[in-house]
Amino acid sequence: MIQKPRGTMDILPDEVGVWQYIEKKAREVAAKYGYSEIRFPTFESTELFARGVGDTTDVVQKEMYTFTDREDRSYTLRPEGTACVVRSLIENGKCSDTMPLKLYYIINCFRYEKPQAGRSREFFQFGTEMFGAAAPQADATVIALADTFIREIGIKDVKLHINSIGCPNCRPKYHEALVKYFSDNSDKLCDTCKERLKTNPLRILDCKCPECKAIASDAPKTIDNLCVECQTHFDGLKLVLDNSGIEYEIDPHIVRGLDYYTRTVFEFICDSIGAQSTICGGGRYDGLMKQLGGPELPGIGFAMGITRLILAMKASGVDIGADDAPSVYIAPMGTAATVRAFELVEKFREAGIYAETDLVSRSLKAQMKYADKKSARYTVIIGDSELESGKAQLKDMRNSTQSEIELDKIVEHVLAAIKE
Ligand code: HAM
Repeated sequence: MIQKPRGTMDILPDEVGVWQYIEKKAREVAAKYGYSEIRFPTFESTELFARGVGDTTDVVQKEMYTFTDREDRSYTLRPEGTACVVRSLIENGKCSDTMPLKLYYIINCFRYEKPQAGRSREFFQFGTEMFGAAAPQADATVIALADTFIREIGIKDVKLHINSIGCPNCRPKYHEALVKYFSDNSDKLCDTCKERLKTNPLRILDCKCPECKAIASDAPKTIDNLCVECQTHFDGLKLVLDNSGIEYEIDPHIVRGLDYYTRTVFEFICDSIGAQSTICGGGRYDGLMKQLGGPELPGIGFAMGITRLILAMKASGVDIGADDAPSVYIAPMGTAATVRAFELVEKFREAGIYAETDLVSRSLKAQMKYADKKSARYTVIIGDSELESGKAQLKDMRNSTQSEIELDKIVEHVLAAIKE
């Protein structure tokens, strides 16, 4: 038997309801904040991620699905969406549109990671990006959007962690402090981190090895090394969040796994879903647009892993009742009735009502069993005598009552009944 690749998933019809619910809510909440949808390719030039996400990150070094096409060009299945959105805006000349530009996306992403609960190789993100807004209120708006969405889909027990990781002005001084600290402890670092000490010491803070994690926990903190502008920005964000009642915790250990971040970084953590507890991660990336060849345009956004959202909704006891029962089942007996039943179900569908009839030549008894199994709200049996009189018995399956109705008026009748 051919099986799906490790770390991918099938979303079966009885599971898809919650996905559709999340996607619908994501669109609704994004619209309330003035975000428009953007779609972009599933694969991009490898260079986009190497330059955008950073070639010393785990994502680029270990996790990308990279391939060469028939003409020897190197492409990569998108491991995230931010670099793709930036590329698209530059390429399509959108960087001089009225600011701020607010965009959202619902995409599949690919990372070669060790699969576990809440972590897969193909995964799905709801992400947003805002461009052209440098003020701390923009950061607060993006956080408020994420917070609103998480609450609206019923997730409880979630904590917002924020941090500031500074900017190119304050980084050199911080790097110096980091290099000094890690050089003093370099014998305990993993081989990759020994290399990172030379190339990008900030990445050591994001290493997953327990030994490196232990050393990193006592490393100098970005938050103690901010320049005046970054400190003022961070204070401004805290003020707006405090004033609007959005609760947060300052977590100096958030560094994020991607290189493009500057200043604000944040994560929403849900402890009840196991080790992969970050349901949302994001932050500001004021240098990315320029770095990828565009104008200097600040950016800020987040992405949420949809499988993690579903785990968190389950842990919060959210139940999306599936509403996939037909309103009407028409059971025909005989050829003429089958033809009429086809016409009637189409009329129901035109009126926006989910109706079904027999497509597999079941006996009347088997049809009624099928209607019952599908939890049809109303059933109607039509045979030669009903066709002749133009009337039939409409049975309400909830209380087993019957009423005689005219076949020509069946749609209006059911419409009125289900609205009651
Ligand atoms: P990220 O932290 O790499 O950030 O991913 C965002 C979210 O995607 C994570 O918090 C998690 O919920 C989900 N996620 C990541 N990897 C996996 C996986 N292997 N399996 C399941 N879920 C996963 C970004 O991707 C940034 N582009 C976010 C951003 C947008 N920052 C600014 N704008």
